[in-house]
Amino acid sequence: MLKTKVAVLVSGGGTNLQALLDAEKAGVIKSGEIVAVIASNESAYALERAKNAGVPAVAVPKKSCASQAEYEEKISAVLAQYGVELIVLAGFLSILSADFVAKWPKRIINIHPSLIPSFCGEGYYGLRVHEAALQKGVKVTGATVHFVNEVPDGGEIILQKSVPVYKNDTPELLQRRVMERAEWKLLPRATEIISAKILKEGNKYGL
Ligand code: GAR
Repeated sequence: MLKTKVAVLVSGGGTNLQALLDAEKAGVIKSGEIVAVIASNESAYALERAKNAGVPAVAVPKKSCASQAEYEEKISAVLAQYGVELIVLAGFLSILSADFVAKWPKRIINIHPSLIPSFCGEGYYGLRVHEAALQKGVKVTGATVHFVNEVPDGGEIILQKSVPVYKNDTPELLQRRVMERAEWKLLPRATEIISAKILKEGNKYGL
């Protein structure tokens, strides 16, 4: 069966990547195939997860590049090598330029660990998002999968799921709850939805 070729971009532990790999194996993702994993640093544990699943994994360390343009050229070369049609940002913590994003309209999706438009945009990533949510005293948070455009965390929302905040939460406890109850479900689901859409539309731009 023809499948949409998906690249997953990561920076760290890769639990969302693991959820994607597991979902593909379980048939939850059936319209997409993860053909490559690209990490922004060589020590990302996500690279091990990809290798364990038999998926080609490449590190493109940002610090080894002289400029953002060179960094993105290297990423683009890997994407072209594997014929990628959909990019999934799964805990990818470096911001992509407007030039890069413009080349992939509605072909890049991202998972963010809050209910956008709360606690998002530049500087809000990883634990910091949950620290900000606790500081504000919100009683409900969650996760969002959205298309990526030139505004950080500003693209069209695809899926959201809410998660309760409890009285004695720490940023770490809240992060884990948001991952377990929202992120690890939403990202595979959104990947399937968009992969299916791309297949249906014969990989034309503009969903
Ligand atoms: C996840 O919580 C993801 O939502 C977040 O980083 C974590 C990565 O964990 N992403 C952002 O904050 C993006 N702004 P993982 O490497 O275990 O998937």
